Amino acid sequence: MQKEEYSRYEEIGNWDFSDIKYVTKKISDWNFYNEVKKYSNPSSFILDLGTGGGEKALEYLPDDSIIIGTDFSSKMIETANKNKENYPNKKIKFCVMDNFNITFPPNLFDIVTARHTAIDAKQIYNCLNKNGILIVEGVDKYDCFELKDLFQKGQAYNDEISISKIDYDNITKAGFRKVEFKEIIEYEYYKTKKDLLALLLKTPILDDFSELSNSNIHSNKINEELLDIYIQNNQTKDGIRLKRVLYGILAIK
Ligand SMILES: C[S@@+](CC[C@H](N)C(=O)[O-])C[C@H]1O[C@@H](n2cnc3c(N)ncnc32)[C@H](O)[C@@H]1O
Repeated sequence: MQKEEYSRYEEIGNWDFSDIKYVTKKISDWNFYNEVKKYSNPSSFILDLGTGGGEKALEYLPDDSIIIGTDFSSKMIETANKNKENYPNKKIKFCVMDNFNITFPPNLFDIVTARHTAIDAKQIYNCLNKNGILIVEGVDKYDCFELKDLFQKGQAYNDEISISKIDYDNITKAGFRKVEFKEIIEYEYYKTKKDLLALLLKTPILDDFSELSNSNIHSNKINEELLDIYIQNNQTKDGIRLKRVLYGILAIK
């Protein structure tokens, strides 16, 4: 288990950004939940790995599919079960499980989704049925790169081999017969500095959770002078611009 990440997610306990005011302009046409829609049908059995507080799964995964959302953080699963009360018709169950120790029987799921979470391609391959689909969205070194470069640190900032390449290679090696890769670019515009700061304090964008030895050092440790320089350089009429560079992978067993 990734100990530092685990403590950090336990401490946060949700993956809810609804208080942060920002808008997104999408440049790429690939959309994680559209891909799920495209490949699912009313009888689909879906596993959502690293579901967080279930916020996205509850809102965007198909209403007619049967879904299991898992997360290694019991706090996240507690939140997910609370959030579920607002979606009485959703056919979803949440349980605690480590993505690196998937204990479901083989060939069970039609679709496995993994958005912004760590994956083990071989274990996913095993729990998917024949022709099952894996849909991944991940965050890479070049996400928010101008900001990371200014701070000289951040999520995957020092990676020599990108996470997207590692994921792609592992998925291919696991035996999936078709693997498609897509770079996703979008611009987010934060209404105020407070909104941008709230994002940076909650996510690993500037302080990679996996590099923290004490989760408390994350909080309130953003260098505001540098942040002000970033804001000056990226203030637009729509808000403070943040360039997101993500990747999507679609694989068929
Ligand atoms: C960035 S959040 C993404 C949450 C959700 N998938 C979304 O897109 O909103 C990452 C989640 O993955 C979970 N996670 C990270 N590593 C994990 C692992 N090895 N096993 C299970 N969950 C993990 C964290 O607890 C956290 O809830």
